[in-house]
Amino acid sequence: MIAQKENDSALLDVAEEVRDFYDHYPYPRPIDSLEKYRRLWQDPQRRRADYHLAWHARPYKEDLSILIAGCGTSQAAKHALRRPAALVTGIDVSATSVRCTEDLKRKYSLDNLRVCELPIERVNDLETNFDQVVCTGVLHHLADPDAGLRALRGVLKPDGAMHLMVYAPYGRTGIYMLQDFCRRTGIHASDADIRDLITALGALPPGHPLENLLREAPDFRREGALADALLHPQDRAYSVPQLFDFLEKGGLKFGRWIRQAPYSPHCGVMAQIPQASRSPGGSKGVSFAGDAWLGYVPHRMSDTISVQQRLPPGAAAVLINKNHTYRDIFMTIDVTEKRWVDGIDGNCCIGDIVKDRLQSTSQQIEQIDMARVFFERLWWHDQVVFDASRLTNTNNGQGPNERLKRNQNSIANGSISKPDHS
Ligand SMILES: C[S@@+](CC[C@H](N)C(=O)[O-])C[C@H]1O[C@@H](n2cnc3c(N)ncnc32)[C@H](O)[C@@H]1O
Repeated sequence: MIAQKENDSALLDVAEEVRDFYDHYPYPRPIDSLEKYRRLWQDPQRRRADYHLAWHARPYKEDLSILIAGCGTSQAAKHALRRPAALVTGIDVSATSVRCTEDLKRKYSLDNLRVCELPIERVNDLETNFDQVVCTGVLHHLADPDAGLRALRGVLKPDGAMHLMVYAPYGRTGIYMLQDFCRRTGIHASDADIRDLITALGALPPGHPLENLLREAPDFRREGALADALLHPQDRAYSVPQLFDFLEKGGLKFGRWIRQAPYSPHCGVMAQIPQASRSPGGSKGVSFAGDAWLGYVPHRMSDTISVQQRLPPGAAAVLINKNHTYRDIFMTIDVTEKRWVDGIDGNCCIGDIVKDRLQSTSQQIEQIDMARVFFERLWWHDQVVFDASRLTNTNNGQGPNERLKRNQNSIANGSISKPDHS
């Protein structure tokens, strides 16, 4: 009993420290204009693709109930702006973050947004269930992330989807090393200490483990971002297997990665090794076995581009998803494939896109097989998501967990999870 009590008070201390930290260094940096964001999300195709990323078999709807858990300074306001027909709730323990969100709510007349100063652990107090829970960059800061995830699952509707982002050890190696250095040398989250640290980091020699991070994330030189990375009172990272265990313990099923190509042996350099072709295809509910896939309606994912200059011989375009960090993930496509990509309009199913352009029956059989391989590749490469809501029973029984567990060295930085209410 006593041990339990001490443990409880230790958890409370951590929670308070985390709250004080974000009151002093709110994240992300407070902003007062959402104009660029508003313009981006005015595109209905962007909203549709985003929806079918979470629900590929559910008909599209705009009037969602959405919880942004640990909303920081602007995330809840952004979601309310991007989906005016949705009801958005933002919660955060930091009074500063809540105040910044309230300011944006007023400025943009976001009547569909409510903001509460409330810890995730008490989300049940809202007495509301949500279609979607978004919780990015938060759970790894909780004293008891398992309890936080369970609380969030408790307010997710049975067919709801959760968008999670937690830290991964890969890519944070240099950060943990420096965190340790700061702890041992007594560098604290104070403005003076942070300024000294920024000066020292600016002078790090080439080849230092933090070199890449400092080069690629100039934001890291700002006080708030630096404090968040190096002087946070509480943070942990999850490898892929640890993330799957975390979800399972929380009563959730893995749905998919937000960007799945970097985790897949079907994409990039890894696709070139012969063993890659033995990896099973498909994911939960998305299957290219049988012919149900001909009824999928493809939607181009946001931020995908089709490059048509300086192409290799025989290529009609190169498809890139601008959100991919690594340059080995792209698709070179030929004239027929480009015609199919150009045929994607958010209404036509794959069958229509492919068949409309064929003449003879033998051509049809051959091209349908080519189309099957091609649209599956498009999907693996995060070029498209599918709306399969006109179909039922498309699951081929291939669970994503088994496949991805073999991929243990991937970065676990983003997933959509669905509650396991079975
Ligand atoms: C790194 S920021 C992420 C903000 C936002 N989710 C985003 O991605 O931009 C973490 C946020 O979680 C909040 N937070 C930390 N612990 C929390 C808890 N137990 N309950 C609710 N919010 C919490 C912090 O106050 C902070 O605003």
